[in-house]
Amino acid sequence: MNRDLLSIRDLGADDLRWILDEAGRLKKLRMKGVPHPLLAGKSLGMVFEKSSTRTRVSFEVGMYELGGHALFLNPRDLQLGRGEEIRDTARVLSRYVHGVMIRAYRHTTLEEYARYSKVPIINGLSDREHPCQVLADLLTLRERFGSLDGIRVAWVGDGNNVCHSLILSAALTGIRVAVATPRGYRPDPGIVAAAQEEGGKVTLTTDPVRAVKDADAVYTDVWVSMGEEEARAKRLRAFQGYAITQELLSSAADRAIVLHCLPAHRGEEITDEVLEGSASAVWDQAENRLHAQKALLVRLLGSTSQKKR
Ligand code: CP
Ligand code: NVA
Repeated sequence: MNRDLLSIRDLGADDLRWILDEAGRLKKLRMKGVPHPLLAGKSLGMVFEKSSTRTRVSFEVGMYELGGHALFLNPRDLQLGRGEEIRDTARVLSRYVHGVMIRAYRHTTLEEYARYSKVPIINGLSDREHPCQVLADLLTLRERFGSLDGIRVAWVGDGNNVCHSLILSAALTGIRVAVATPRGYRPDPGIVAAAQEEGGKVTLTTDPVRAVKDADAVYTDVWVSMGEEEARAKRLRAFQGYAITQELLSSAADRAIVLHCLPAHRGEEITDEVLEGSASAVWDQAENRLHAQKALLVRLLGSTSQKKR
């Protein structure tokens, strides 16, 4: 695998399987209260340009449970906020920490860190992808259905970052992804093409019922992502008819689960009834961020953490 995780495609199918297996193993150890200090003495820097609950807390607790340490770094408090360049920050952080997780507005910011960093860079959400989220999603699907191959996931809503990583995971895992979005909110055609060229089963439609038909999982995300607040009114209009309701869910398979990366806006992309209903797997999904990222951290920051440059 690549030394960085900027995209879910930085993982090969074998890496992904290893991470999900390791996540399951670490989850069991944690449940039994067995210590697992696999990253003793290691530190993770965490740069957040935007808000976060799950990503911040799961990475921080994850590093603690692995015997390491995590540092929350607000760019406004770093010299970055006073104009120090990313390339200088990246090189200096590399001298202190063993990996850096970054949540950035622009994916190009992550790429710039990765270019200058000597330690692994982890994408904690950009405008392009959210690979750590999708690791947790795949873990949740595998726990619920035993295997990923052929599992049908319907994505209903905005075809942006989380959706992109889900689409790109199709070729790696054998899940089939049916995406329903309004016309102007489709996923990036380059991402769809890349997934399809690699053998991923991905289809696009504007019809939520068509996407959800016989799905094993129905997945949604907010209609107004962080940084898009100015377009809120326009977006709420565009996404009318794309909410996950009990009625839409009735087109899915009987065993279908509901996924949401959270935070949720009840009454917008999902109803309170569905989020709180028996099909909802969202709390397990959120918990799995912790287990999946711990496995990822072990993989990236374990014995061979320094990039060879
Ligand atoms: N799903 C997710 O990344 O949540 P946060 O924005 O709370 O980190
Ligand atoms: N699409 C959302 C995901 C939040 C985890 C956003 O970018 O705000």
